[in-house]
Order: sequence, then structure tokens, then C-alpha cells
Amino acid sequence: MNAVALANRPEASTLPTTEPLVAIENLKVRFGDVVAIEDLSFTVRRGEFVSLLGPSGCGKSTLLKAIAQLVTPASGKIVLSDPNLRVGFMFQKPLLLPWRATLDNVLLPVEIQLGGSVVDVTDRQRARLMLDLVGLGDFADAYPHQLSGGMQQRAALARTLISDPDILLLDEPFGALDELTREALNEELIRIWQSGNTRLHTIIMVTHSISEAVTMSDRVIVFTDRPARLAEDVQVRCSRPRAPEDSEPGSIIKRIRTIVKGGR
Ligand SMILES: Nc1ncnc2c1ncn2[C@@H]1O[C@H](COP(=O)(O)OP(=O)(O)O)[C@@H](O)[C@H]1O
Ligand SMILES: [Mg+2]
Repeated sequence: MNAVALANRPEASTLPTTEPLVAIENLKVRFGDVVAIEDLSFTVRRGEFVSLLGPSGCGKSTLLKAIAQLVTPASGKIVLSDPNLRVGFMFQKPLLLPWRATLDNVLLPVEIQLGGSVVDVTDRQRARLMLDLVGLGDFADAYPHQLSGGMQQRAALARTLISDPDILLLDEPFGALDELTREALNEELIRIWQSGNTRLHTIIMVTHSISEAVTMSDRVIVFTDRPARLAEDVQVRCSRPRAPEDSEPGSIIKRIRTIVKGGR
């Protein structure tokens, strides 16, 4: 891996653009008799932070996996505007290797990419930069069992970011954490995304929290029960930082709550 310094990258603007990045076209995904996604179409634009919201089991994780090409559609397709786009995937569980210190967990994708070659000093420096970025600079040598749940998720985020993704797919990334930790990590994620210190420009995040979706994203896509279809596509144009108590985000939260309950 190149020694990519965390220099400012002017091209990594996080302002939403009109440029299509990921086009989901008439997507259908099935597992045997279970249809997880049915005739789903929408486009994510470059620079957008999009939240995917929907009831448990409706097909949200399946959609993220389809975008990452980890599941194959039964019909329809997903088109990335740039085939060289780097996609980072962060799962709900941190999935750290217990026998590896934090720094070595963060280095794992680099080692896999090197396929047997040994990581060098610049890779280790870069891993340290990633740990600094997520606020774990002092825990490079700690083992997973010595980290709190929130710290483990930070380490998992650093491990995702070391591959320098353009687009980040987050599956309920901080969903298992207590509310205060989750809010703090959500704020840090926005900070990292807006900092211009990484290549990252576009985020697609699964959540089941309406207020989290509205306070974080430029756009909230609400799904129906399984099979996932589009129930509503809501633009959130309020300035950041936002609080769910603020009047504009507050009214959008109420509107989505009504949609989720099936009313209008
Ligand atoms: N690998 C799989 N094999 C069989 N069924 C699956 C698989 N993955 C997901 N499903 C089913 O597809 C549906 C959607 O699952 P999922 O995408 O995980 O939902 P969500 O993330 O919205 O909670 C569920 O009914 C689930 O049981
Ligand atoms: Mg899921």
C-alpha cells in the first residue's frame, strides 16, 4: 500500500452533488423462497450521506451486501459510476481478532492486500494515523478484551478506513452501544467524513433510529416491510450540527414516524 499521507484532498468534497454514484436498478434479491428485496430502484449521488431506514428483517443488510457485491441479485442490477470506486464495509459487530493488538487488527486489510508480504513502516504509520483519526491513538498496543464496546467499534472503523474507501457502507455501526457512546461516535463519524482528511466522500448507513437518520444524513430512504421496497425518499437539508429537538429536524422526524406507522 502506498504511504498516503493524510493531506487535505480538495476533491474529497462532502457536499452532496447531482453526480450519480451508485444506481440501484429494479433490484430483486432472494434467498431460496424468501424474497428480501423486490423491484427496488434509487440512485445515491456522490458526496451524499444516505441513511437506510426500515423494520427489522426488511432487507437493509442484504441491500448493503448487494452494493458491496457480496450477494448476487436475482434480477436487476447495481451500477457503480466508477468501477475503480473503493468500497469500505463496516459490520454491526466489530469482529476484531482477539489475539491481535489494536494496531495489528487495523493492519489486517493491508496484510490481506499484500498477500503474504510483510507490512512496512509506512503501513504501520498509516495504521497509527487511522487510530488517531478515530481517537484511539493511545490504544495501539491494547487487545480487544481491554477495549470498551465503543472503542472496539472505533478500531473497526479505523480498520475500514485504512483501505482508503471512497464510499463507506455502514450496517448499524454503533447500534449495539449505549445511547451516549453512540451519539459521540455518530458525531465523530460526521467529523471524519467532513474533515477532507480521507478520500471518503459518500456514506450509506443502515439504522433503525429515525432521529439518528435525520440528524446525520442528507437523505433518508425509508423501506417497507420485507421484501424491501421504497416507502419514502426524504431529503434533509438542515445545516449541521443538528439536534433532534431542533424545529426543522424535529418536524422531519415526526413526518418519517408517521410514514413508518403507515399513515400519511
Ligand atoms: N444468507 C441468507 N440466507 C437466507 N436468508 C437470508 C440471508 N440473509 C438474509 N436473509 C433473510 O432475508 C431477509 C432480510 O434480511 P436482512 O437483509 O438481514 O434484514 P435487515 O437487515 O433489514 O434486518 C430476512 O428475512 C432474512 O432472514
Ligand atoms: Mg440488518
